[in-house]
Amino acid sequence: MSNQYVIVPQNYRSDSMVSISPADKRYFEQAQAKQKSPPQQMMFGGYSPSPSLQKSLSTQLSEQSIDDFSRMQKDSDTELVVQYILQLRDADKREQALSELSKKRESFPHLAPLLWHSVGTIAIFLQEIAVVYQHLQPAQLTPAQSSRICSVLGLLQCLALHVQTRSCFLRAHIPLFLYPFLNTSNKSKAFENLRVTSLGVIGALVKGDDPEAINFLMQTEIIPLCLRIMKKGQELSRTVATFIVQKILLDDNGLNYICQTPERFFAVSQVLQTMIDDLHQSQKDDQRLLRHIIRCYLRLSENQKAGEVLKKYLPQVLKDPTQSFIKDEVVKKWHNNLLQNLSIK
Ligand code: TRP
Repeated sequence: MSNQYVIVPQNYRSDSMVSISPADKRYFEQAQAKQKSPPQQMMFGGYSPSPSLQKSLSTQLSEQSIDDFSRMQKDSDTELVVQYILQLRDADKREQALSELSKKRESFPHLAPLLWHSVGTIAIFLQEIAVVYQHLQPAQLTPAQSSRICSVLGLLQCLALHVQTRSCFLRAHIPLFLYPFLNTSNKSKAFENLRVTSLGVIGALVKGDDPEAINFLMQTEIIPLCLRIMKKGQELSRTVATFIVQKILLDDNGLNYICQTPERFFAVSQVLQTMIDDLHQSQKDDQRLLRHIIRCYLRLSENQKAGEVLKKYLPQVLKDPTQSFIKDEVVKKWHNNLLQNLSIK
């Protein structure tokens, strides 16, 4: 069983991968060393505190400086995280371990490199994802299944955000495994959560304004998937999908790509128009969504060809320079610039 998951470290060469800080490397090596210990100890329990932690624990707390105390806490945090990562290999403990690890996302900065470089962890995540596919069509995803997969997606988000793992994450084409989740339209909460959390992973990728991430996403079918969610999705998934399209547009290659053919341009501008009409008609005051839509329009107006076409196709409500449903000052400025670029004002 122990060999089943050994897929990463043999090929691990730090020179061919993104650079890893000495601290991350140490955590990684510690995790690896644990895996080299006898299988029964490696797999299930039998986990003993490191010598330094043992020493810390045996010393009276009152004798410790604050510094020692925080180091001890860091140590025990690392031990806990390593323990949860090891528990992923135990089917009975996996669900709990996934949930605990995803809670550690923000408080434990080394989580991403540890997950990526520990033996078999990514294979386990992909396996968890693949199991869910069969419940998408016909739609049979239970809230419990949805929540379990959302823990996995939370951990993928952490890999997408971390500068030391983002590139590996892209080169392994991990985002593609989430596209089936984005391609669903069931309205239940289980499905909506799955869509929003999957979009969150893609959102994390584009957040860093990393051209490698944008180029990768552009070449996959993420834009049509986002456009469909923007058109038909619920509030939150709509907003995240619009944010992703905005980030792609803000990249020079992204803008050129979308403005390269009329089909692409119109696919995007029609969805933006539908959303504006929706917001206007429903009188919904969704300033966050409005912000992303206006930013997309402004960026499109910076492309010469798109600008010419947009002059004609800009929604009527946005042609009014005094219109009042934009409240945010920054967004008002973008709107002004947009009208200026289109010489409407
Ligand atoms: N393969 C399609 C294309 O290259 C992808 C696509 C569909 C698309 N709709 C889009 C890309 C809108 C950008 C914008 O055209």
